[in-house]
Amino acid sequence: MNVSIIGTGYVGLTTGACLAYLGHKVTCVDADERKVKALQAGKIPFYEPHLGDFLADAKHNLSFTTQYGEAIPQSRVVFIAVGTPPSSTGAPDLKYLEAAARGIGEHVAEDFVVVVNKSTVPIGSGNWVESIVREAYEKRTGQKANGRFAVASNPEFLREGSAIFDSLYPDRVVVGSDNQRTGEVMYSLYRPLLEQSFKAPWYLPRPERMGAVPLISADLASAELIKYAANAFLALKISYINEIGQLAEKVGADITQVAKGIGLDARIGTRFLQAGIGWGGSCFGKDTAALVATASEYGLDASIVKAARETNRKQRERVVEKLLDELKILKGRTVGLLGLAFKPDTDDLREAPALDIARKLIERGARVKAHDPVAMERFLEQYPDIDITLCATPEAVAKDADAVVLVTEWKQYRDLDWESIKSSMRLPVVLDGRNHLDRARLAKAGFRYLSLAG
Ligand code: UGA
Repeated sequence: MNVSIIGTGYVGLTTGACLAYLGHKVTCVDADERKVKALQAGKIPFYEPHLGDFLADAKHNLSFTTQYGEAIPQSRVVFIAVGTPPSSTGAPDLKYLEAAARGIGEHVAEDFVVVVNKSTVPIGSGNWVESIVREAYEKRTGQKANGRFAVASNPEFLREGSAIFDSLYPDRVVVGSDNQRTGEVMYSLYRPLLEQSFKAPWYLPRPERMGAVPLISADLASAELIKYAANAFLALKISYINEIGQLAEKVGADITQVAKGIGLDARIGTRFLQAGIGWGGSCFGKDTAALVATASEYGLDASIVKAARETNRKQRERVVEKLLDELKILKGRTVGLLGLAFKPDTDDLREAPALDIARKLIERGARVKAHDPVAMERFLEQYPDIDITLCATPEAVAKDADAVVLVTEWKQYRDLDWESIKSSMRLPVVLDGRNHLDRARLAKAGFRYLSLAG
């Protein structure tokens, strides 16, 4: 099938690569000429494990352009995967979505085309996109658009850092549409994925117990709400375990054991119960804010989601409070941060807790040093205003520091030579913001080990 994808961010590029890998002819469209040129030359615009191999494997089915006219007219399915960054009100800014919908209407062929919202869009956007595509189509052709195209919602559930794995082996595929023909087109598009009939790439073998993938066929509004409700629920789980973590600290309990003990109840599940600094990234903050904003438009309070957001905000403050308790004075101190990215295996810094923590420490007069295995280059490009001294190694971060905070749980940080690191620090204080380090080993090495939960 011929497919176009508008937007080559995490979602668009991964979706494009995945559909090309499954055998479809995919054209990715992006307005950013530099980005398109780089992609044409085989360069990847962000760090994502296995994406390079995956794009190379799918290359024969994949092309990149800045021109809608080179992609849309021959496509049966057009995905919109543009950014929907938060606006000042908390509601997402839809200007890129609107431009994409208009561009599609201006180029869509006179045949049945499915326009798919892959971006996370406010509930009701399916109808809105439909009206923009229709208007642009009718303006161009002077004809009624009736039946020429339909809009579907196909929310994305991939996590950065495991985007390819999540795309190939999803827990479910959700397709929302109010039109039967749309459902049929989407089913045949996703058939190899749903039936798991494709050959797994060597670098990401199919999980042993992987069976057929359930397809949830829903109406448009339900599919749109599923996306927000899923992300908000995951965010709630994290904030819940962090709230329990605060209590664990007071009563002398170990939050890691508590999380395991509750998570093994199949009704609860062990995932997303890792206590620590809390969530960052471009999704949970934005989507929980949008859910609260939508609820309030309908006179609802979404108080659980609001509380989860507040707990998450406080976790970052608690890092500074803990350091203050321990060091008493932050002015003139040097604090080292291990990790800048919002989670391991990505160089994405959007809403990364490290940035907030660094700003707060600097405000209090501390000097901040940091290391990240992949995100430092991006940090220099995007945050020249935050005065962090970047270090080439984690050891250099710790040298002469009064405290080290583990902000992002990159695997390699656990295995550092902590014994020799201790002797290079001014004070042997470690705040393990992700409950990631070997507490017993650090204590044995003579560290003062702190965490956000005990
Ligand atoms: C999230 C969802 O997990 C995806 O399903 C969804 O598709 C995506 O948002 C999106 O809407 O595009 P992502 O933000 O990439 O994915 O990464 P997550 O693995 O969900 O992590 C989010 C944040 O929560 C990270 O800062 C992570 O450190 C934190 N987290 C995660 C915890 O603090 N504890 C946990 O137990 C799990």
